[in-house]
Amino acid sequence: MTAAAVTAAAAPDLSVQIGKLTLRNPVTTGSGTFGFGSELADLVDLNRLGAVCVKATTSHARIGNPPARIVETPGGMLNAIGLQNGGVENYIREKAPFLRRFDCPIIVNVPGEDPEDFAAVTRRLTEAGVADAIELNISCPNVSHGLDYATDPRLTAEVVSACRKVTDLTLIAKLSPNVTDIRPIAKAAQDAGADAISLINTLVGTSIDIKRRRFRLANGTGGLSGPAIKPIALNLVYRVAQTVTVPIIGMGGIMDASDAVEFLLAGATAVAVGTATFVNPTAVHEVADGIAAYLAQNGFTEVRQIIGAVQAADIRPRTTPEPTQEI
Ligand SMILES: Cc1cc2nc3c(=O)[nH]c(=O)nc-3n(C[C@H](O)[C@H](O)[C@H](O)COP(=O)(O)O)c2cc1C
Repeated sequence: MTAAAVTAAAAPDLSVQIGKLTLRNPVTTGSGTFGFGSELADLVDLNRLGAVCVKATTSHARIGNPPARIVETPGGMLNAIGLQNGGVENYIREKAPFLRRFDCPIIVNVPGEDPEDFAAVTRRLTEAGVADAIELNISCPNVSHGLDYATDPRLTAEVVSACRKVTDLTLIAKLSPNVTDIRPIAKAAQDAGADAISLINTLVGTSIDIKRRRFRLANGTGGLSGPAIKPIALNLVYRVAQTVTVPIIGMGGIMDASDAVEFLLAGATAVAVGTATFVNPTAVHEVADGIAAYLAQNGFTEVRQIIGAVQAADIRPRTTPEPTQEI
């Protein structure tokens, strides 16, 4: 069944709940890959998104890292943007009014220097009424100490609880894959008051130009995203889904609907499309339509029926004979 045929037939219910937000479908944009909405609004209908997650917004404007800030890699890309943005007051004045024209929940991605800084931006966004949810970016690999808060459960809890005290908005903690065990960090975020967990942010990587014998990125390292990271992201989503009860927004290398369905089966309640948007700006719509088609083809009436529904692999009989003697 094609996506168009599904629309004509009884369409499956794609709506999901993330904290206080009801998303019309489980597909959001990955922070930093969709600007502040207006950049892609000629190509993407924001009214059809599950939610829009905008670029990081900090207490003060940041010019980001010097170029080169982007390098293509096999199956992905490295970025070292360094949280370039106009600051929270600029977001409130210049960006939010455009986004508010659409019937689409707004998730604002908030990094910070320390728990007080995270909380100050969260409070300001809440009071100004310009966000429906806050995604705490405790996992940015491209600024000094950007990752610290997502690598230690105690620090994760400090940021989340500082922000929990100043907002009733849906609070999402965005976790890093650059850790030995993500589960205690996810648990700490939930226990400190996060309504949802998003993962994964990018993996730290680098690239070297052998002709010039120099690192390609001015920052030295960058964050790896795209299809290359999907198996890692999927596994971490599954592990975290076994650990927390709050909903998960899964991301990392989602290029099409089948990738997204894998994340839903692994336990994500919603997904974000990031790097794919650079290759195919309408990927967000194709992913949502494709999820609907998958549900219809497989006899599901609601997307909720497949969340966390993955089962153990089939185990086939061995084809190699049992060893006859000890090796
Ligand atoms: C160019 C670029 C900029 C990004 N900026 C941010 C950001 O500001 N805040 C954030 O939390 N994540 C940021 N990310 C990470 C993405 O939101 C996402 O977590 C990651 O790229 C994995 O998803 P993907 O493989 O679908 O891109 C950025 C990613 C890219 C490629």
